[in-house]
Amino acid sequence: MRALSVIKSKILIEENIISKCGKLILNSVNPCKTLIVSDRNVAKIYLNIVSRELERLGFQVQAFLINPGEQSKSFEVAEKIYNVLTLNFMSRCDLIISLGGGVVTDLSGFVASTYHRGMKLVHIPTSFLAMIDAAIGGKNGVNSNYGKNLIGTFYHPSLILIDPLALKTLPSRELCCGIAEAIKCGCIWDKELFKILENQNFYNNINEIIIRSIKVKKELAEIDEQDFGSRMLLNFGHTIGHALEKIGCYKKISHGEAVSIGMNEITRISESMNLTRFEVPQRLKTVCKKYFLPTNNNFSRSQLQKAVLHDKKILNGYLNLVLIKDIGKSFIYKISDKEFINFLKNEI
Ligand SMILES: NC(=O)c1ccc[n+]([C@@H]2O[C@H](COP(=O)([O-])OP(=O)(O)OC[C@H]3O[C@@H](n4cnc5c(N)ncnc54)[C@H](O)[C@@H]3O)[C@@H](O)[C@H]2O)c1
Repeated sequence: MRALSVIKSKILIEENIISKCGKLILNSVNPCKTLIVSDRNVAKIYLNIVSRELERLGFQVQAFLINPGEQSKSFEVAEKIYNVLTLNFMSRCDLIISLGGGVVTDLSGFVASTYHRGMKLVHIPTSFLAMIDAAIGGKNGVNSNYGKNLIGTFYHPSLILIDPLALKTLPSRELCCGIAEAIKCGCIWDKELFKILENQNFYNNINEIIIRSIKVKKELAEIDEQDFGSRMLLNFGHTIGHALEKIGCYKKISHGEAVSIGMNEITRISESMNLTRFEVPQRLKTVCKKYFLPTNNNFSRSQLQKAVLHDKKILNGYLNLVLIKDIGKSFIYKISDKEFINFLKNEI
């Protein structure tokens, strides 16, 4: 079993860890009332295993199932969970376990952090994106009518259990979307990770890829827990990516696909401005193609500009673009909104 810690969370990684989760959870939380939050796809495969494990050790388990998908990361669903917690007289000494992808970990983290000002929280991420990104680093949130992740807190689970075998049941498109975030980690911070993704078989190196990706997030999140400085590097590809998701109304392309396009677009532009080494755009494109990720889009430049300039990360007319100088070396390029329009034009 591999163990890591990120800020206040202990992370354990092992194949089949889900079927022995009871004892590991018991090491960090005493038996108590427990609400497992999961989505209907994941629950069908894993809920019984987790519930049985916990009940066997004296936890009083209930489950709350959400519909799979981003639309469940909402205030309305959060409120339904608060109601279940209240009706079951659960207190801050009780436990929420998230069992699912990033939608479930974000929603559960948000509810756990706000109900009675903070309950106990354990994440069991089951998508690749949640294993290397959403469950790590303490950020959570729900969407509002005005945008994604606009409401949320920083709150750390005491324990995160990662079972790489769960990826066997994850649909391949979802897996590839998570791989986009691992490619991002390689690009911004860890060139060895990038090389593994570029040259090796993914499944043969799965543990190494998970651990290296988490370590990138760990290093950046620990230097900058509240996301005002170096943690911003994790947004590589996200400025354009978020805009593309927004233009497509979060339906046409997934988050990972949008990030893949965003990383490729921004790197083609920065290379053309001599801010990035010349061979980087091609290497990035090739690795994304290896995992069936798109590398360009057919939205118009004006749609893109409009969507980026409405992004929440624009502060006082400036935006912080994350660029890479070389694989594994990233930097923040501060640019005004007017300059950004010219920056985008440079690409054509
Ligand atoms: N908090 C953070 O730091 C952070 C970071 C990145 C992303 N996120 C958030 O994460 C969310 C996206 O996460 P996601 O990509 O995991 O999406 P998701 O939670 O919607 O999961 C994707 C799909 O895979 C299914 N699934 C998950 N694990 C499975 C498994 N093992 N077997 C079968 N099916 C499985 C789910 O049912 C769902 O249909 C977004 O809301 C995003 O904002 C948060």
